[in-house]
Amino acid sequence: MTHPDGELVLRVMTMPRDTNHTGTVFGGVIMSYIDQAAYVHARSIGLHRWVTVMVERIEFVAPVFVGELVTFRATTVSKGRTSVTLRIRVEAERYSTGQQVRVTDSIVKMVSVDANRIPIPFTSAQTLSGDDGDARL
Ligand SMILES: CC(C)(COP(=O)(O)OP(=O)(O)OC[C@H]1O[C@@H](n2cnc3c(N)ncnc32)[C@H](O)[C@@H]1OP(=O)(O)O)[C@@H](O)C(=O)NCCC(=O)NCCS
Repeated sequence: MTHPDGELVLRVMTMPRDTNHTGTVFGGVIMSYIDQAAYVHARSIGLHRWVTVMVERIEFVAPVFVGELVTFRATTVSKGRTSVTLRIRVEAERYSTGQQVRVTDSIVKMVSVDANRIPIPFTSAQTLSGDDGDARL
């Protein structure tokens, strides 16, 4: 059955290195994972190079603490010609209780580009090949 928050795209455990000066997980760490989660979901729409063009919204609803399992789920909000807009919802599993808590909600827009970084319709046939799996992406 499909989860109401969308496809599970990423699951991570937070570490002491992820914290800010107040001891909770740094928002920038969560944002980085959101970016990765958006990429993972975009890739399931088309096997292309995808770049983030805009983070339309990001809302930190509740803090994340060290040692928690954090789950990123994605849904497609809308599709354009070369872009897709995604919603990434983030939940943390509280360390001692196992309770799932909504912690962050975000809207991200991704664009599929060719090897020259020119936008291409994401409905194009797959544009990645065996030679693309390196730093030239
Ligand atoms: C993404 C990028 C290729 C778009 O280039 P561009 O010349 O604006 O391309 P276009 O005008 O053809 O727009 C392409 C798509 O992006 C959307 N877009 C472009 N700029 C946008 C903006 N500022 N806000 C929202 N959407 C935008 C357009 O609406 C279009 O979507 P559509 O084809 O679905 O209608 C270019 O801005 C870029 O390279 N940005 C840097 C990406 C990057 O490095 N990201 C961070 C790390 S992944």
